[in-house]
Amino acid sequence: MLPELMMKTVTLKDKSFILSIDADTIQQRIAGLAAQVSEELKGMEPIFIAVLNGSFIFAADLVKKLSIPCEITFVRVASYEGTDSTGVVRNMLGLHENIKDRNVVVIEDIVDRGDTIMFIMEELTKHQPASVKIASLLFKPKALRHDIKVDYVGFEVPNDFLVGYGLDYDGLGRNLNEIYVLKPE
Ligand code: IMP
Ligand code: MG
Repeated sequence: MLPELMMKTVTLKDKSFILSIDADTIQQRIAGLAAQVSEELKGMEPIFIAVLNGSFIFAADLVKKLSIPCEITFVRVASYEGTDSTGVVRNMLGLHENIKDRNVVVIEDIVDRGDTIMFIMEELTKHQPASVKIASLLFKPKALRHDIKVDYVGFEVPNDFLVGYGLDYDGLGRNLNEIYVLKPE
């Protein structure tokens, strides 16, 4: 059989996606990130703040592989059309913990243009944490429009639309164990 005929694909609504990063590769990379985070944040009892919905699977797998004591909590960013310069008004919901003087790690599924993570960093900084680091499973460096550093990157990816392992297309695909890329028409 031709390799392309063996390529794993999924269909979600009207679109087809091709396997991009398999489950073993994802888990191995997360183990590497967890080792690095555990080493760098040893003795700090960090608080991980996972951004819902997309990061819930990555967050679970990452914290399960850490070897240091830590807390984990969740926030959500609500966005709606507004009248400010960007046309979007954002609101960060769900942070009930006191993060003043804490070492924080934000967990994201993907940093694309960086608008969301930039907003979260601004909101968290208002609470005067000791430090804030960013861990993102996926990072699209060519799409980034802000001066921010993603401290822990799982995979750098091109500017293609991805689904699976937390990422969705119109609400679907978050439960896939692998990451898939939109098939060109
Ligand atoms: P940003 O604000 O442009 O960095 O985009 C962040 C959000 O857009 C992510 O948290 C995702 O919810 C969504 N997003 C960006 N790229 C993708 C993608 O390739 N697939 C699915 N969702 C994406
Ligand atoms: Mg997200």
